[in-house]
Amino acid sequence: MAKIKVELKERSYEIVVGTDILSNLGKIIKEAGWGSEIFIITDQLVNELFGDKLRQGLISFSCQTLEIPRGERQKNLKIAAKLYDELVDHAAHRDSLILALGGGVIGDLAGFVAATYMRGINYIQVPTTLLAQVDAAIGGKTGVNHPNGKNLIGAFYQPKLVYSDLQCLSSLPARELRTGLAEVVKYGIIEDADFFQFLETNAHHLNTKAFESPDTLRAALKVWQTIVAESAKIKATVVSHDEMETGRRMILNFGHTIGHALESLTHYKAYNHGEAVAIGMVATAKIAQEINLLAAPVVERIRSLLTRLELPVKLEGINIDKVISAMGIDKKVKGGKLRLALPEAIGNIRIVDDIPAKTISRVLQEMGCQ
Ligand SMILES: NC(=O)c1ccc[n+]([C@@H]2O[C@H](COP(=O)([O-])OP(=O)(O)OC[C@H]3O[C@@H](n4cnc5c(N)ncnc54)[C@H](O)[C@@H]3O)[C@@H](O)[C@H]2O)c1
Repeated sequence: MAKIKVELKERSYEIVVGTDILSNLGKIIKEAGWGSEIFIITDQLVNELFGDKLRQGLISFSCQTLEIPRGERQKNLKIAAKLYDELVDHAAHRDSLILALGGGVIGDLAGFVAATYMRGINYIQVPTTLLAQVDAAIGGKTGVNHPNGKNLIGAFYQPKLVYSDLQCLSSLPARELRTGLAEVVKYGIIEDADFFQFLETNAHHLNTKAFESPDTLRAALKVWQTIVAESAKIKATVVSHDEMETGRRMILNFGHTIGHALESLTHYKAYNHGEAVAIGMVATAKIAQEINLLAAPVVERIRSLLTRLELPVKLEGINIDKVISAMGIDKKVKGGKLRLALPEAIGNIRIVDDIPAKTISRVLQEMGCQ
């Protein structure tokens, strides 16, 4: 088991990463005195998979489960309002505690409800997808989508604890696992060359097959322990230095400017988040190469690791101008300016201004854009 501290003065908290630990959470809550009454917010599938295990350890609490349907479309104000209604109906009070049991959708939504119900009550993130364990559950960004854009309504509100059980990863579909892996690779590139090398060495464990047989499971869980804990450590360090995303936290956006453009351009259908970010990271590394910041063999290492993890690294059938426009920077770029987090080496990232539009277009073309 690993414990990682997110240092934020009086809002500091721990991230716990372990295997088969869900039923121990009640004891930790009791000892810490985080709440007398518990509301688990979860979705149908996650409740079916892990709800009982979690509730086993909560028998000494009054505990309600508030279940919503699955999917990104549930992350909206209507569902938040429905959850407020349920909290009011159950007379939830300032000493109530919310447990967000699920992927990033549940974490963002339940965190937002916790941030706003009675001006903020305690909550704990119990992330069950890889993406949520290594990224979404850490850092206190909570929120919901608006019909005009993702995550437009939200608040920075830190949890009391992030509690990640690696056993949850064994039921994830391959594509969900891969979307989290893109963020994991990102951490290696932005902060930690040794970690990147660890991923290269262990790439063969990083798929759902490793969970299928008891022989491979043990080795896989060991590798996942390192991966989730190291990723959490890197995110925790970045968040500790820049809680409100005013400066350094921007390095976490490596690959995301182009990734987000691809997601919105294809209406969140062609690529999931990690796939779009994987393409975005290769494109961004190539941009760094174009401006002589990054050596060609390093770009190849990034591309090769992502390919081994079965993430996409090409961009076919997409129009260059549309990507530039979806980046929301066409006007600025035509004036000759774009700000991106660019790698200068594995483990070392720099914010660069003034990236010319034609450099981006050239790279997009090289990657298969028309
Ligand atoms: N707050 C942040 O800093 C932050 C960072 C990154 C992403 N996000 C948000 O996270 C969301 C994406 O999160 P996600 O990728 O976890 O998707 P998700 O929450 O939609 O979960 C994906 C699917 O997996 C299912 N699932 C969850 N755990 C499972 C398990 N262990 N086994 C089998 N199925 C399981 C869920 O029911 C869901 O259908 C987006 O809304 C994104 O905006 C937030």
